Formats: sequence, C-alpha cells, structure tokens
Amino acid sequence: MKSKLLDIFRRRHACHLFQADRLLAPDDLNFILEAGRLSPSSFGLEQWKFVVFTDSAAKLAVQDACFQQPQVGTASAVVVILAKLAELHPDSDYLQRLMGREYPGDALDAALKNYRNFHAATDVKAWSDNQCHIAAANMMTAAAAIDIDSCAIGGFDPSSVIRILQIDPDYHHPSLILTFGYRAQEPGEKLRLPMQELVEFR
Ligand SMILES: Cc1cc2nc3c(=O)[nH]c(=O)nc-3n(C[C@H](O)[C@H](O)[C@H](O)COP(=O)(O)O)c2cc1C
Repeated sequence: MKSKLLDIFRRRHACHLFQADRLLAPDDLNFILEAGRLSPSSFGLEQWKFVVFTDSAAKLAVQDACFQQPQVGTASAVVVILAKLAELHPDSDYLQRLMGREYPGDALDAALKNYRNFHAATDVKAWSDNQCHIAAANMMTAAAAIDIDSCAIGGFDPSSVIRILQIDPDYHHPSLILTFGYRAQEPGEKLRLPMQELVEFR
C-alpha cells in the first residue's frame, strides 16, 4: 500500500499539454469529483463549489482567462473551484444548516458563538481558499490513481474568470482551476528538496 501510494504521488505531475481528442470517461470524472466532495474542511463547511467545463468553446474561454496556458484548452475537463464567501457568514442559511449538521442538539449554540468570533477575526477569503486547495490536492491524487493527468492552474485573472462564469464576487471567489486529461508529452524529472531540508524532528 505504501509503495502504491507513493507511486501515485510520483506519477502525478503538472501536465502542461493534454491530448485534446482523448476524453475522460464520465465515470472517471465523477470519481475525481467525488474525491473532492469527500475532502476534509474547516468546521465541515465544504467551502468549495466545483464548476466543470467539458465543452471546447467554454474551455477556450477559460484558457483566455489563464493567460493562454495550453493545458486548459487541451484538457478533457476543466474544473473551476470556487471558494464560498457570503455563505460563510455566521447569519447565512448555509452556515446555520451546515453547523447544525456538524454540531447537533445542545452543542450548536456554543459552536456558533465560537464560529462567530472566529469569522470576525479571520481573513475569510484566504481561509475559504485554503480549504479549496485541500479538495484540489485530493482530486489530483485521485486522478493520478486512475492514470489521469492533471495540472493545477493558479495563473489566471480572477476578474476574467468571474466574468466568464457570471458569478457574484461577494458570493464566490475563483480559488483554483484544475485541468484533467491524458498527457501529450512525458513529464520531466520530479524536482523536490531532500527530506532532511524539509523535515525537522524535535
Ligand atoms: C496552487 C498551484 C497553482 C499552480 N499554478 C500553475 C499554473 O498556473 N500553471 C502551471 O503550469 N502550473 C501550475 N502549478 C503546477 C506547479 O508549477 C507544479 O506543481 C510544481 O512546479 C511541481 O511540479 P510537479 O507538480 O510536476 O511535481 C500550480 C500548482 C499549484 C499547487
């Protein structure tokens, strides 16, 4: 199991060009999205929303917003991860519903009080964004596990993405774009710092 999992992490790489005519099976795309859905999130608030594009014209429009990075237009599926904003306000219906689910019965009042203090003291956009990145990592690992390549795209113009998706910026913030498909070229060497430079046991 350990070596299988490490092979998956080694296989996953930032794919810079996909075979445009090789499409993901719908079941595989659903598997990847399910890995995102099952991801952990702060307070269990599922701060993400996944907007999926498979249509060629739509993918090219998103590519425009990504400074023409070709792994967007050639991908079989492009998933724009939106970070929730207004829904995370302590008084929103969404927040009340999800906190009620996470903290049922008598635990809810104290949890809401705690959350209200946290929300007031937090950079909500950055916090929401961070949760989306956890889901993104899980989706890319899940894809690699079934031999599907991916690239995370943080290089995009948020205002263009907001315009293309016609989203309300008070409601959602484009967090990260994920592209999925089959590689058109072999990846280069995996570049990572050695363990001893990254890990300190105290
Ligand atoms: C949050 C995030 C944003 C990224 N944005 C881009 C991007 O816009 N374009 C790109 O080609 N790669 C992007 N990458 C991929 C990284 O460049 C890549 O993961 C890193 O160089 C390590 O290489 P590897 O993934 O092949 O191991 C991004 C990765 C992350 C995690």
